[in-house]
Amino acid sequence: MKINKRIFLSPPHMGGQELKYINEAFASNYIAPVGPQVDAFEKEFAEIVGAQYAAAVSSGTAALHLVLRYVGVEQGDEVFCSTFTFVASANAIMYQGARPVFVDSEPRSWNMDPELIEHEFSRRAKKNRLPKALVLVHLYGQPSDIDSIKQLCDNYEVALVEDAAEALGATYKDKVPGTFGRAGIFSFNGNKIITTSGGGMIVSDDEELIKKVRFWATQARDPAAHYEHSELGYNYRMSNVLAAIGRGQLQVLGERVEAKRKIFQKYFDKLHDLPGIDFMPESSFGRSTRWLTCLTIDPVKANIDRDAIIKALETENIESRPTWKPMHLQPLYKGYEIIGGAVAEEIFEKGLCLPSGTAMTDEEFQRVVSIVRSCWGDGMGENCGELL
Ligand SMILES: Cc1ncc(COP(=O)(O)O)c(C=O)c1O
Repeated sequence: MKINKRIFLSPPHMGGQELKYINEAFASNYIAPVGPQVDAFEKEFAEIVGAQYAAAVSSGTAALHLVLRYVGVEQGDEVFCSTFTFVASANAIMYQGARPVFVDSEPRSWNMDPELIEHEFSRRAKKNRLPKALVLVHLYGQPSDIDSIKQLCDNYEVALVEDAAEALGATYKDKVPGTFGRAGIFSFNGNKIITTSGGGMIVSDDEELIKKVRFWATQARDPAAHYEHSELGYNYRMSNVLAAIGRGQLQVLGERVEAKRKIFQKYFDKLHDLPGIDFMPESSFGRSTRWLTCLTIDPVKANIDRDAIIKALETENIESRPTWKPMHLQPLYKGYEIIGGAVAEEIFEKGLCLPSGTAMTDEEFQRVVSIVRSCWGDGMGENCGELL
């Protein structure tokens, strides 16, 4: 039996210039967690997102950890965090010994609901129990309602930290998500819109913040000829070789965004007529990258559920995934506070992410579409054995 080539959800897609920069890194012999490629990558990245400063680190998770420490999150503090996210957003809060308080999404963006924040900040202010910080996640390339949430954070003096790990290339009112809070973080993990295989970036207009996180990320080594340490640090810097990949990738970011958006539109055109399918909305306040094409399937109207579609695709060697499982439903975060929760729960129950790789061929795209359509009994009905 012939096995079709696997179609991945969002595989790396090199732009062409990466090897040139890697060769430069080799020629300079900076095969180290510092070097000219890191310096250049930081500078080019800051320019592209419109931030004053940037610090390249080993992952988006490390980036978030450093920023939370800088804004003063410590043992016993509470930090608000989107419940509908990848676990790293919440784990970084725990690294500081603080407690995440999860907040539900709003249906128009699938991101944190500002009305819930408004109500909760006002309630907690009366009890003197405001959180130390708020981690605002821009999920699947879609900006959150930043202005509303930033206003509330400013009014109540809560530090706004943006987790833009999935949203590089998005815009919010002509600015870039990740540049509104005290600091923003990005990820270059292998599945992201651009990748360094693994890595992260912190951006901020606060020079002191960037200097301090860079210091902590480099084992907090005090200036001295010998090794002197007066603060706890980490080995969180980005390798010079990986920064070289990032520089090449940065050059094709614009192209990748347009390709991702085109993939979303093509899926929409080919699938939106199927009963029970709803595509992730694009909010009026931002331009999404459509990093992953996400949709929901109402099992009653569709007469098939999300899991059966995932199974049918997997049978044909095609990777797809449920949307993120909300943090308040994770065993790790059992018993932690959740404000609302029903919106994220419903998106999780019905949500599906389709293969969205920018190097996907037309033929591969057609394979995905025909398997999905077959689940509605369109042509190849035998792929979906689990009709409800
Ligand atoms: C929303 C979100 N936050 C944080 C991270 C962590 O980034 P990294 O994998 O680079 O540590 C990721 C992705 O991996 C993510 O999707």
